[in-house]
Amino acid sequence: MPLLAYAVVSVTLALSVRAGNWTATPFSPASVPLAVRSPYLSVWLPQGAGNALNDVWPEFWTGQDVSGWSGFAKVDGTAYVWMGAPGVPNTTFTKATQKSLQWTSTQSSFVMTAGPVDLNITFFSPVEPSDLVNQSLPLSYYSISAASNDQNSHKVQVYVDISGEWVTGTRLSAPTINWTTTAGDVITHQVQLTNQVEYSELGDHIQQGAAYHSTLSVPGTTYQTGQDIVVRAEFINNGVLNNTQDTQFRAVNDNWPVFAFAHDFGTVTAATTPVVYSVGHARDPAIQYVTVNNGRMALSSYFWTRYSTMADAIAAFLKDYNNAVARADAFDAQINNDARNISSDYASLVALSIRQTFGAIEITVGKKMDGTLDTSNILTFTKQISSDNTVNTVDVIYPSWPLFLYTNPAIGRSLLLPSLQYQNSGQYPNRWCAHDMGSSYPNATGHNDGLDIQMPVEESGNMLIMALSYTQWTNDMSLLSTYSGLLDQWTQFLVQDSLIPANQVSTDNFAGSLANQTNLAIKGIVGIQAMAEIARLTNDKSKYTNYSTLAASYVQQWQNYAISSSGSHLTLSYGDDASWGLTYNLYADKLLATNVFPSSVYDLQTSWYNGKANTYGVILDTRHTYTKSDWSMWTAATVTSNDVRDQIVSAVVKYASDGQNSNPLSDLYDTDSGKQAMGGNFARPVVGGHLALLALQAAPNITDPNVSSSSTSTGSTASPTGSPSTSSNKSGAPPRWSNAGSVTVLSLLGILCVFLVA
Ligand SMILES: *[C@@H]1O[C@H](CO)[C@@H](O)[C@H](O)[C@H]1NC(C)=O
Ligand SMILES: *[C@@H]1O[C@H](CO)[C@@H](O)[C@H](O)[C@H]1NC(C)=O
Ligand SMILES: *[C@@H]1O[C@H](CO)[C@@H](O)[C@H](O)[C@H]1NC(C)=O
Ligand SMILES: *[C@@H]1O[C@H](CO)[C@@H](O)[C@H](O)[C@H]1NC(C)=O
Ligand SMILES: *[C@@H]1O[C@H](CO)[C@@H](O)[C@H](O)[C@H]1NC(C)=O
Ligand SMILES: *[C@@H]1O[C@H](CO)[C@@H](O)[C@H](O)[C@H]1NC(C)=O
Ligand SMILES: *[C@@H]1O[C@H](CO)[C@@H](O)[C@H](O)[C@H]1NC(C)=O
Ligand SMILES: *[C@@H]1O[C@H](CO)[C@@H](O)[C@H](O)[C@H]1NC(C)=O
Ligand SMILES: *[C@@H]1O[C@H](CO)[C@@H](O)[C@H](O)[C@H]1NC(C)=O
Ligand SMILES: *[C@@H]1O[C@H](CO)[C@@H](O)[C@H](O)[C@H]1NC(C)=O
Ligand SMILES: *[C@@H]1O[C@H](CO)[C@@H](O)[C@H](O)[C@H]1NC(C)=O
Ligand SMILES: *[C@@H]1O[C@H](CO)[C@@H](O)[C@H](O)[C@H]1NC(C)=O
Repeated sequence: MPLLAYAVVSVTLALSVRAGNWTATPFSPASVPLAVRSPYLSVWLPQGAGNALNDVWPEFWTGQDVSGWSGFAKVDGTAYVWMGAPGVPNTTFTKATQKSLQWTSTQSSFVMTAGPVDLNITFFSPVEPSDLVNQSLPLSYYSISAASNDQNSHKVQVYVDISGEWVTGTRLSAPTINWTTTAGDVITHQVQLTNQVEYSELGDHIQQGAAYHSTLSVPGTTYQTGQDIVVRAEFINNGVLNNTQDTQFRAVNDNWPVFAFAHDFGTVTAATTPVVYSVGHARDPAIQYVTVNNGRMALSSYFWTRYSTMADAIAAFLKDYNNAVARADAFDAQINNDARNISSDYASLVALSIRQTFGAIEITVGKKMDGTLDTSNILTFTKQISSDNTVNTVDVIYPSWPLFLYTNPAIGRSLLLPSLQYQNSGQYPNRWCAHDMGSSYPNATGHNDGLDIQMPVEESGNMLIMALSYTQWTNDMSLLSTYSGLLDQWTQFLVQDSLIPANQVSTDNFAGSLANQTNLAIKGIVGIQAMAEIARLTNDKSKYTNYSTLAASYVQQWQNYAISSSGSHLTLSYGDDASWGLTYNLYADKLLATNVFPSSVYDLQTSWYNGKANTYGVILDTRHTYTKSDWSMWTAATVTSNDVRDQIVSAVVKYASDGQNSNPLSDLYDTDSGKQAMGGNFARPVVGGHLALLALQAAPNITDPNVSSSSTSTGSTASPTGSPSTSSNKSGAPPRWSNAGSVTVLSLLGILCVFLVA
């Protein structure tokens, strides 16, 4: 297809599409993120071919459990439901009509027409990589504004509630909950399990902590707790709530208790200022972490370093709303602007991936001997989600690494630290890098028996590549100075096992194990060269020479093994001429600017992939018809033709927008049917890998890695609070953004222009 035709197709797709009877901009995703901020605050609206906000109930990320969340409005006395699928006996109301859905990296907005009034409901999950307190707050906003759609004035009241399902999945149990409502300048409904179990999950919900539903006590606000059909009927009949509390604590599904607010907008013509709510789920402690001698340490969410009660945190969060929106709009616009330089298709995929990745991480700190929080050791954890429940899986952090590099490498560092600290303590018995920090989130208790899932070349290479790229992007030498012994141990393993990799699984373990995997060898060799660069940065010249000589020699030999006998492509495994796959590990060679693989290899793969995409993408490898969206984007970032790059990107976007799936975006799907494959692999943080092209575009100038060594003696230049200092950041990447205040008028104008053009 000629380039021009391609561009036209992409632009049309990215503007908006019709899903059901409404427009979806940029497209209708498999599931719409509503409140997605942590593994336990993760509520979505499943779409499939298209569900309006009031067609179905919102769901927890598992797609198994309803998260009861309903919305009603009264317009001139007529009641409408605009969210959820509630039935309320003996009342009369009609369904509002969805007019549009629009989403960005942080916000999902619905316009629901309730007779002569349009309601704009915006679900906003902040992504604030440069302020770790903000980022670690497990709270999400939603707001409602109303505007007349017929030029006349109308009386408007709105209603919202959440159910006890927010603290448990009813699929597996219906335990007893209790609740309180606190009414001051902030009104908060707090709901929790009566039987709390620390660090324990049931159906992927945590059996600990509480859910919070809050609003500012502005004039016109009322609240009530009680049975769903009673409280909803109260609003439907009267347009206000009673400011009363039900204190008969009971099971989640016993006369379904709900936690509700109503707001009276009065008489509405032009769009009102929004009424703002927050929903959240918080617990303390958050993570159980292994220490020396198989000890245990309780880690708390990082936001406790600024707030001492949830009430304080919620009040600050609600009062920060206007500024948070301004920061989010700037963040959304910057990402959109940067990603559109690749293509508008690409920008849509990136926007869909941001909340999903950040919603799977938790930023934490431990306590010092005196009981105060130890901010000198920030540790971030990620739950693998859906495919397994492991903690800080190295080959889950690795695919999502481009997102952390692009938004704030300091978060990436804090994701690597648990694994580095644990293995540096000498308790993990294997000579390669461990697969993860524990089998069951949120227990980061290590694997002192060495019996974790074994992906030896995979994880050793991943860790070396991530440690070096963090250093290149920040000039912070702290990882290398503390852990170069451990990194060297893993390199020595790679020296033995990466040119001729033994029969083993890679990160794509669902595809089966195999000896002599070409793509795994690439990772191992880049890993060895990464250690050479690490040695160079730490002024160990002989080690640099040793490892870089070895890597260069491996590349020579590897070409003889890995290229098919016809010379047309790289094989999936040595000698199997008919086999091939996505050689996504070449991305690391580009990201690190190690350039150990010759450009002829990149050119070879580029021409091989040209025209190879099935309807929904290029296969992961010849063993199956499925592919991985994250590795597709990594591969797209390595090809040397923009046309081939766009073929890969557009096919993945076609899958993401095709209306056949209803779980939060799955990274594993069939390239012929466009359906999520193998039942798992949805809602996972690995979609951060969709930022692979963006990270490469934003990468600092690392043509000469030794340029960075000037900062060796200054130690940590990236502040652990996540705001890399610009003054000492000579060749590293500038921070993408610090705070809204630092966004210049000029760049805002640029952003505005992009929107006008769109
Ligand atoms: C879409 O609109 C058409 C015509 O207005 C109507 O007949 C149909 O029922 C609507 N479909 C949905 C799903 O609302
Ligand atoms: C609805 O109204 C009917 C008839 O008055 C009554 O029998 C029933 O109990 C009511 N249901 C509820 C849930 O109020
Ligand atoms: C709905 O409100 C949000 C947040 O204020 C805004 O960004 C969006 O443009 C509004 N949507 C429409 C269609 O007005
Ligand atoms: C609710 O249950 C929790 C956990 O058992 C308990 O700490 C709290 O005091 C209870 N709250 C009320 C209001 O009963
Ligand atoms: C984590 O460990 C605790 C014991 O310390 C246990 O009660 C809990 O069930 C474990 N969590 C998971 C998710 O397995
Ligand atoms: C709410 O107040 C109204 C009017 O005072 C009363 O009729 C109704 O029973 C109350 N509902 C509840 C659930 O307390
Ligand atoms: C979020 O970050 C901004 C800027 O650092 C700060 O002003 C604001 O108070 C933070 N919000 C919360 C709820 O802490
Ligand atoms: C946009 O992409 C081109 C390559 O397609 C690259 O040369 C250029 O630097 C990029 N611009 C920005 C602002 O990143
Ligand atoms: C070079 O690396 C290999 C593999 O780790 C090691 O056996 C050898 O001792 C190293 N040589 C030097 C001079 O460091
Ligand atoms: C792996 O490749 C090497 C080099 O071609 C070959 O000697 C060896 O037999 C292969 N191993 C397997 C299990 O195929
Ligand atoms: C890196 O640069 C420094 C300062 O120019 C120089 O002293 C050092 O030898 C260089 N290191 C290597 C490994 O090239
Ligand atoms: C990148 O660094 C190299 C070597 O230090 C230098 O020659 C080149 O001009 C730099 N490029 C940019 C874009 O700064």
